[in-house]
Amino acid sequence: MRDLLKALDALESEATAALGGADEAALESLRVRFLGRRGALTSILRGLPELPPESRPVVGQRANAVKAAIEGALEARRAALTAAARVGLAADRLDITLPGRPPMLGGLHPLTATLQDILEIFAHLGFAVAEGPEVELDYYNFEALNIPKDHPARDMQDTFYISDEVLLRTHTSPVQVRVMEAQPPPVRVVVPGKVYRRDADVTHSPMFHQVEGLLVDEGVTFADLKGTLTAFVRLFFGEATRLRFRPSFFPFTEPSAEVDISCVICRGAGCRVCSESGWLEILGSGMVDPEVFRFVGYDSERFTGFAFGMGVERIAMLRYGIDDIRLFFENDLRFLEQFHAA
Ligand code: FA5
Ligand code: MG
Repeated sequence: MRDLLKALDALESEATAALGGADEAALESLRVRFLGRRGALTSILRGLPELPPESRPVVGQRANAVKAAIEGALEARRAALTAAARVGLAADRLDITLPGRPPMLGGLHPLTATLQDILEIFAHLGFAVAEGPEVELDYYNFEALNIPKDHPARDMQDTFYISDEVLLRTHTSPVQVRVMEAQPPPVRVVVPGKVYRRDADVTHSPMFHQVEGLLVDEGVTFADLKGTLTAFVRLFFGEATRLRFRPSFFPFTEPSAEVDISCVICRGAGCRVCSESGWLEILGSGMVDPEVFRFVGYDSERFTGFAFGMGVERIAMLRYGIDDIRLFFENDLRFLEQFHAA
């Protein structure tokens, strides 16, 4: 009798331990192994008839208790596995009847779109793109452009200095010098980039963008400058846009001209945007001064060239009818979203 009781104890602890860690698939085979018709419990009870009659009820009761304990452990494990599976399902729940959430579509910033369109037009006219540093030497920003240290023309652009010789470039013109230093003529480049000036109101920003243009070759004349800029303005603003070349001064071009276009808002009739004049300035330009050629070692007897520099913000303001330059830099989505189709 004692052997049978010991065997029952061992079976109970073995079975509860095995069931405690079983997964769904193992449960049924464990049940068969412990409680099935050829299982462990049955085989222990096969020894029952050999016991003296008075011992049998004791072993029988103990066998029933072990059977109940194993069934209980089996049931508990099954319940725990089902509960865990439910939690997993709840986490993965997907309601396929909900409407989809469309992804937020970004769009180009109006300045980026304007810059890309400007560069594309010049690409068609045969201009390559060149770039230069925003933190620039005084030499390239001023000196080599024929603006010596004490020259009054320095007051035309109020400069952020980093040290005596280093500054934030005030225009893209220093890249003209860098490009010419690096290669012999012919040259045909446009230079997009950020420039900086101590300047701030509705049409002036302390950081803004320019696109510089430079073309140098034999026999280049002012007519080429006029033809190129006229083609650009017509392609960008439309065939009907008129333009005029107004005499101006830059130390690095001679002669120099600023280009005005007929006001895109009032079509030349006169309005607030063009200060009632019917014209709007978009760029500065001129024939490269022989003095600049001397700085870069070009032969000014053999080569001539023209250059221009346009303000990208101004051009974007005219294109979209924007009357405050600061709107470009405030990142207000209500403003930016209006350009998504553009
Ligand atoms: C220049 O910067 C010359 N480097 C342009 C040039 C290049 C002339 C090559 C001749 C040959 P200006 O300072 O006028 O010139 O600036 C050119 C354009 O930049 C202006 O017509 C205007 O559109 C824009 N601009 C100037 N200052 C600001 C500012 N603070 N904010 C926004 N746009 C500006
Ligand atoms: Mg100007």
